[in-house]
Amino acid sequence: LDLEAEIQRLKKEKNAIILAHYYQDGEIQDLADFVGDSLDLSRKAAETDADVIVFCGVRFMAEVAKILSPNKTVLLPDSKAGCSLEDSCQPEPFRKFREQHPDHVSITYINCSAEVKAASDIIVTSSNAAEIIDQIPLDKPILWAPDRHLGSYLAKKTGRDMTLWNGSCIVHEQFSERELIRLKTQNPDAKIAAHPECHEGILKHADHIGSTRAILEYVINGPDQKYLIATEPHIIHQMEKAAPHKEFIPVPGADGSCACNNCPFMELNTLEKLYLCLVNNGPQIVMPEDLRVAAVKPLERMLEMSK
Ligand code: MLT
Repeated sequence: LDLEAEIQRLKKEKNAIILAHYYQDGEIQDLADFVGDSLDLSRKAAETDADVIVFCGVRFMAEVAKILSPNKTVLLPDSKAGCSLEDSCQPEPFRKFREQHPDHVSITYINCSAEVKAASDIIVTSSNAAEIIDQIPLDKPILWAPDRHLGSYLAKKTGRDMTLWNGSCIVHEQFSERELIRLKTQNPDAKIAAHPECHEGILKHADHIGSTRAILEYVINGPDQKYLIATEPHIIHQMEKAAPHKEFIPVPGADGSCACNNCPFMELNTLEKLYLCLVNNGPQIVMPEDLRVAAVKPLERMLEMSK
């Protein structure tokens, strides 16, 4: 069985589009019609005229596609592809958090469930968060969930009063400052690019802090030849494709092994499961319409407020 050819054939037959996040395996990225971050992927999902969206990413991303395109079939190759940030922020405690801060605007990172989105005022991604926070009236305090590292980075960057939920990403939480310093000592000419979901021990050494899209632009367009990358290492696939003459070194976790920083949820999607979900027309994302209608509002606010 030629999996790649079969996937292409089924895609045509079903008028499907394959969307993939930068954190997916390289072979999935290469098969996708579009590769991007959450913001670009949600825009694509909203505007596609395909009948079926195969979402190679994690569940909350596929849910966003369904929320924005309710009449399309949205497939997720592995229904267990979750997210530690989503898990850290359950709807009931989140509603209580909001009740405790009634005067706050609730700005929530897109890495959360549809229920938490529905209970939020505005959704943001790491590429538009600062831009959106800057549009909130200065006298309004902000309630932020679920990633505390991204939240404290944004509070510092925007100078805003932000009350933070205590969540974190298991991938970015694991990067080791000691290993980063060891790598930087061995490669003094390398620039450090880090995602703002990393903890302060990593961010304080970074030459550039940004979303996956911003990190890609920085390393591809920058004059330097060598970069230490502190985010999920599958993104290096796009870096090597766009700038094959440059060197990209993944920053390891505390035990010095890089593989421990692969996202275990993103890794659940494989080429075989991608093929099978097209054959079986499932797993599909299904959502009660009242939840979808509530969750679409803060997402539409995001799309209106970001360029
Ligand atoms: C996303 O928005 O896709 C994730 O936060 C990773 C990123 O792009 O920075």
